[in-house]
Amino acid sequence: MRYRLLSALIISAVAVVEAAPAAAATYDYIVVGSGPGGGPLAADLARAGYSTLLIEAGGDEGDNPTYSEIAYFNEAANDEATRWDFWVKHYDDPEEDRKFAHTTWDTGDGTFYVGLDPPEGAKYLGIQYPRAAVLGGCAMHNAAVCSLPAEDDWNIIVNKTGDTSWSASNMRQYLKKIERNQYLPPGDPNRGYDGWLATSVGPTDWARNNSNPATTILKKLAALTGQDETRAADLLGSDILTEIPNLDETSSFYNLAQHADNTGKRNSPNNYVRATLADPAKYPLTLKLHTLVTRVLFDESTVGVEGVEPRAIGVEIMEGQSLYKADPKHRGQTSPKSQILAAREVIVSGGAFNSPQILKLSGIGPKDELAKFNIPLVKHLPGVGENLGDNYEGSLLAMGQTPVQSGLITAVFRTPNAPDARRNIFTWCGAFSFEGFWPGFPTWHGAEQYTCALVHMQPKSQAGSVTLRSADPQDVPDINFRFFQNQGDQDLEELVEGANILREAMNAVPEPVAPFIERHPCEGDRRAEGDCGVEVQKEYFKSQAYSHHATSTCAIGGKDEEMAVLDSKFRVHGVRGLRVVDASAFPVVPGAFPSCPTMMISVKAAEDIIAERKKEEAEAKKL
Ligand SMILES: Cc1cc2nc3c(=O)[nH]c(=O)nc-3n(C[C@H](O)[C@H](O)[C@H](O)COP(=O)(O)OP(=O)(O)OC[C@H]3O[C@@H](n4cnc5c(N)ncnc54)[C@H](O)[C@@H]3O)c2cc1C
Ligand SMILES: *[C@@H]1O[C@H](CO)[C@@H](O)[C@H](O)[C@H]1NC(C)=O
Ligand SMILES: *[C@@H]1O[C@H](CO)[C@@H](O)[C@H](O)[C@H]1NC(C)=O
Repeated sequence: MRYRLLSALIISAVAVVEAAPAAAATYDYIVVGSGPGGGPLAADLARAGYSTLLIEAGGDEGDNPTYSEIAYFNEAANDEATRWDFWVKHYDDPEEDRKFAHTTWDTGDGTFYVGLDPPEGAKYLGIQYPRAAVLGGCAMHNAAVCSLPAEDDWNIIVNKTGDTSWSASNMRQYLKKIERNQYLPPGDPNRGYDGWLATSVGPTDWARNNSNPATTILKKLAALTGQDETRAADLLGSDILTEIPNLDETSSFYNLAQHADNTGKRNSPNNYVRATLADPAKYPLTLKLHTLVTRVLFDESTVGVEGVEPRAIGVEIMEGQSLYKADPKHRGQTSPKSQILAAREVIVSGGAFNSPQILKLSGIGPKDELAKFNIPLVKHLPGVGENLGDNYEGSLLAMGQTPVQSGLITAVFRTPNAPDARRNIFTWCGAFSFEGFWPGFPTWHGAEQYTCALVHMQPKSQAGSVTLRSADPQDVPDINFRFFQNQGDQDLEELVEGANILREAMNAVPEPVAPFIERHPCEGDRRAEGDCGVEVQKEYFKSQAYSHHATSTCAIGGKDEEMAVLDSKFRVHGVRGLRVVDASAFPVVPGAFPSCPTMMISVKAAEDIIAERKKEEAEAKKL
């Protein structure tokens, strides 16, 4: 397959921006990145009365229907207006990566080649991992699925740091604080109805129709996951954001919740930041778009001094569009660097790839890696860029004899040989295809396509890394997920168990849809011929797994943990005036979907920072 590589729009002469003179600090706080990590935090700091500068590499597409209408999420993730292409590795061994059916190559004639048989002379790029550089970050091109981590995913932070504010029971208040629930009857004391993040759900009534072929799949899946099949349609209406005892051990259907309102409009930090800017109260928030932060600045007199913790005092920036080389519109644009100072703190929220890159470019990271690129060391922190984790994802795709007209089946369930009592697979099934990411994804296989997509919720490896390729801030770092490196066999087995359960459910489908002809993992009749056992399917998931929820590259951890980057208040260990608040902070992958959890920690961080500030102000008054 060939896809358009470059936009038809040729960017004319590169604008050179005059360097602004370094001035005295005009802001208390500088927040770098406006995604789920940075956006809500910047808005909340400003709403508390503190002057805050929010810097975002991309522009604002909040009024562009491709982004504001949730139905177009695939178009949004493909859109050159905001796309940053990271060409990632899944394995150290390039041969392993080249088994991925959607590896991508640059043909040199302005097109991508996607597949296993590239034309002569094509340059290998890797596996596409899209990110959104735009006000609102990846919450502007994602599918907006909103779900919460397992309780242990929060509680592990309490264990590591002793900070009980991270307990699962305490963290729930942050969902309540931001949520504007549009689907429950009003009055649930545990839920929010007037926050800035609309949550809504889709229709499930189709499942009450017993003649609908998908209803048979639903009932079979109920039986296979220990649910009451006679109540399957009711169970499908279960609220995925609710709190019940033993939730993490309960296999259940759910109605997929999204951070969108019930008219289909996407909701994200974009809305909250723009509402904060437009508010008649004139909160002291300044938004600087199309600006790439190239490093954090430190007070030189605090660097390299025995017994003194280096203090962050601002950021260095480049102004202009498409400066980062992950931007498909990048054509060698550059601009002079200038500086902006923060009186109080710099908060880095560039996401799981860019936050560790920014830290390393600023001299915070593994000392050998920094020395290799002549980056002056500010603080040796070997964990920066390590511990990269992500949900393993894969899918069962089959073609029916006729289209399956139905809504979604969403379920979270435990596979029989999972290592503990917790559920491990999140799935959603429907008449769509989802096979990962590549330029131009997804493939339309025809109206008869039916997919059950799987998300492994507790990937055990987290052996990935984000490492510098150079000291050039416009360069894209090297990203290697090292899928399945630790306890991979166990995770692969769990994926196969999940796939086997879902296949059995799918194959219960009646005529006229039946029989389903499977495309993958078990192509055609392989299974009938006894040729698609556990090992064959494990090999399938090993080579074809994909991911798009990267986290944990600047992980919170205890003081004695060598690989910890942040303390429980998001402060970078060993320096002052610097925090990281985004998906990089989670020590373990937070459940099946990180978007809502990241917004929750963003408002938690704002609360922490404001509380510290108020305490200082009270103490200053006493003196
Ligand atoms: C295609 C896709 C679909 C997804 N679907 C879902 C889903 O349905 N549900 C879900 O829960 N999660 C989903 N996710 C994941 C989720 O969106 C992310 O986990 C979440 O957005 C992470 O938030 P963040 O703030 O850590 O980073 P990001 O959202 O990546 O935000 C980082 C921001 O920082 C900016 N930035 C980075 N570097 C710099 C710099 N040097 N200078 C200035 N600005 C900078 C970026 O432009 C970006 O706007 C999806 C992700 C993708 C890619
Ligand atoms: C936290 O520590 C307690 C006590 O050691 C232990 O029982 C529990 O399993 C730990 N929880 C997590 C999530 O690590
Ligand atoms: C129930 O499903 C069948 C099969 O898809 C369809 O023909 C019929 O119209 C549906 N009934 C209702 C009331 O939607």
